[in-house]
Amino acid sequence: MIREFPQDFTWGVATAAFQIEGAATEGGRAPSIWDTFCRQPGAIAGGDTGEVACDHYHRFADDVALVGELGFPAYRFSTSWARVCPDGRGPNAEGIAFYERLLDELENTGIEPWLTLYHWDMPQVLQDNGGWTRRETAEAFADYSEVLYTRFGGRVRNWMTINEPWCIAMLGYASGEHAPGHTNPREAAAAVHNVLLAHGLASERMRKIAAANGWDLNLGIVLNFAEPKPADPADPGCQEAARRIDGATARIFLDPLFRGRYPEDVLEDMAGAGLGSNAQPGDFALISAPLDFLGINFYGGCAVAPPESGEWGIIDDDEAALIAGRPRRSPWVGSERVQVISRGKPRTAMDWEVEADDLRALLVRLHEEYTGPAGIPLVVCENGAAYEDVPDPAGYVDDSASRGLYYRQHLAAVHQAIGQGVDVSGYFAWSLLDNFEWAFGYAKRFGIVRVDYETQQRTPKWSASFLGAVARSNSLSD
Ligand code: NOJ
Repeated sequence: MIREFPQDFTWGVATAAFQIEGAATEGGRAPSIWDTFCRQPGAIAGGDTGEVACDHYHRFADDVALVGELGFPAYRFSTSWARVCPDGRGPNAEGIAFYERLLDELENTGIEPWLTLYHWDMPQVLQDNGGWTRRETAEAFADYSEVLYTRFGGRVRNWMTINEPWCIAMLGYASGEHAPGHTNPREAAAAVHNVLLAHGLASERMRKIAAANGWDLNLGIVLNFAEPKPADPADPGCQEAARRIDGATARIFLDPLFRGRYPEDVLEDMAGAGLGSNAQPGDFALISAPLDFLGINFYGGCAVAPPESGEWGIIDDDEAALIAGRPRRSPWVGSERVQVISRGKPRTAMDWEVEADDLRALLVRLHEEYTGPAGIPLVVCENGAAYEDVPDPAGYVDDSASRGLYYRQHLAAVHQAIGQGVDVSGYFAWSLLDNFEWAFGYAKRFGIVRVDYETQQRTPKWSASFLGAVARSNSLSD
């Protein structure tokens, strides 16, 4: 069977600045919150840091050539706020020059850039002032966006403001698993709002500049989804668990973006964290300004059940600190004690369950409830999997039965959703390279290209040629 994708479908691979660039102190780059967090004992597996990463800062030309050779017409990357505006707001010519060189290379290779403005590496100086708990940070983000958009808006059409606000707010400020490593639900709720505000303020600035210059702007934000299902669909407790997690991970962002308000049930669930107290008049008008597309990142769904204790509750600070000490506890503020129940599905090296139909169902639901009525497409901005790769002596990884199968199943799910009438206009695999997987350091490999961190040698895995062939033929065959 051959599954054809729509004619103008965008195929690409994705990366993010902190995860691949390295060169942490070069070109006038200031420390970011991730540089600081990496120095906290126990924060990152193996004590890994982003100092060298994939050395992409020096090897970008080869990496861009590789994207082209593999057959991808689009490349999603992020710019480092700490490189572009080391003080948070003002331009650093050397930092901007790096992205200029990268864009030149992409242009020469005929690859379309998709630029993410925030993929988690905030200048430390802004965190010293409260980071995402402060409205001033949203304003600084708009300044940073203006710096880059003014410079590159004429040559880059596709922009994403923020990557995964849930991770930024909840993993960063509630569970402490990500930078800045705080464990305070009130801070997390403030961060939710200020990240949305940052998106709104930056969008307003960029739209104005685009209009003044006659530039074509394709602007979106990128959300991640847990796709929670009731472990027992008939059990009201399980239904409530799924509702709460969906509220605290997805609708908490979707509703402000598409409907200009937080959902009532989420406001109630998170009243203890003060979610409703952060908005000021005018915020929601900015936040809900129309998008050109909604980016979605999908890795896996889950099944949930009510807390064993029977108490949903909001975590207090002591408990939050405790949670932070426990590995891999997801901070679903407002529903912290919800249990994740195994569905007996295969798992990736992250221990995430693999069920491609969850992606199909998510796309259908988003189209029906949010993006379809708004008349905008969905773009899968990240999808992929970490596995325990076993390279042969030459460094080649045959991941056909693991990552390859994952991609095959998820692409079939995207195709099926399109067949059901969902407007999906692009798909980006995560990730081009094995890279710095945040709290897991270099131990987890998501690349379709293997990186030997000793030599920085890149070796495409089986999945890279598979995906390249899909991109070239715009179709998936059995
Ligand atoms: C989503 C994040 O955007 C990306 O940075 C991360 O590496 C992947 N998830 C895998 O965890």
